[in-house]
Amino acid sequence: MKRQLNAMRKSSLLLSFYALIGVLFVVTANLITRDQIAENQRVALQQKWNEVLDASRYTNDLNEANKTISAEEIGLPYDAIVYLARSKEGQPVAAIFRVTTLQGYSGAITLLVAVNYADQHLTGVRVVKHQETPGLGDKIEVAKGDWILGFKGKFLTNPSTKSWAVKRDGGEFDQFTGATITPRAIVSLVEDVLIYAHQNMQRLFKEPITPNTGDTK
Ligand SMILES: Cc1cc2nc3c(=O)[nH]c(=O)nc-3n(C[C@H](O)[C@H](O)[C@H](O)COP(=O)(O)O)c2cc1C
Repeated sequence: MKRQLNAMRKSSLLLSFYALIGVLFVVTANLITRDQIAENQRVALQQKWNEVLDASRYTNDLNEANKTISAEEIGLPYDAIVYLARSKEGQPVAAIFRVTTLQGYSGAITLLVAVNYADQHLTGVRVVKHQETPGLGDKIEVAKGDWILGFKGKFLTNPSTKSWAVKRDGGEFDQFTGATITPRAIVSLVEDVLIYAHQNMQRLFKEPITPNTGDTK
C-alpha cells in the first residue's frame, strides 16, 4: 500500500514537472514572438494606409494621429477609427476611415476609405476584412480584381447622389455576375463615409487627438 502511494506521489510530481515545463515553454515563446507580431501588424497596417493614400503626401505617424468615432456618431454598426494624415508643415492632407458594414452576404465587411481633405475626393478604398464567398463576393479584394480601384477620384457629387448605387439599383457601380449583395454593401458604406466626411472633416482635424491603439470589429 505504502509502495503504491509512493509511486502515485512520484507520478503526480513528474506530471506537475512536465506541466510546468510546458507552461514555461509557452510563456517564453509568447514573449519572444510578441514584439515581432506587433511589428508585423504595424507594417501590415502601414502598407494598407499606403494603398489608399500616397505615402509621400503625409509625414505624421498615423499610429498616433487617430481617433475613434462612435458607432452612434457615424451611424454604423461598430465604432470607426479615423487616421488623420498631415503634411510636413502640419497641414491636413486626408482622413482614412476604418469602417465596418454588416450588409455583406456573409455579414461584416471592413474597409479603409481615404478622403482627401481639400476637395474630399476619394484617394482610395480597400477591403481590410471580409467573409464573402470565394469566386463570387471576394472580387472586392484588390488581389482578385480591380473593382475596388474604381472608387479612386470619386466625390459625393460625382457620381450624383442617386448614382451612388450598383447598376442593378440604377447607380453607376458594376455588380458582379450573380453577386450583387457584396458590391451594394460596399458602395453604400463608402457613400456613408463620404457624407460623414463632408459634414465633419474640418472638426476632425481641429479636435485634440486621443489615439486608439486597439482594433474595432
Ligand atoms: C452559396 C452562395 C454564396 C453566395 N455568396 C455571395 C456573395 O459572397 N456575395 C453576393 O453578393 N452574393 C452571393 N450569393 C448570391 C446571393 O444570394 C444573391 O443571389 C446575389 O447577390 C444577388 O445578385 P444577383 O441579383 O446579381 O443574382 C451567394 C449565393 C450562394 C448560393
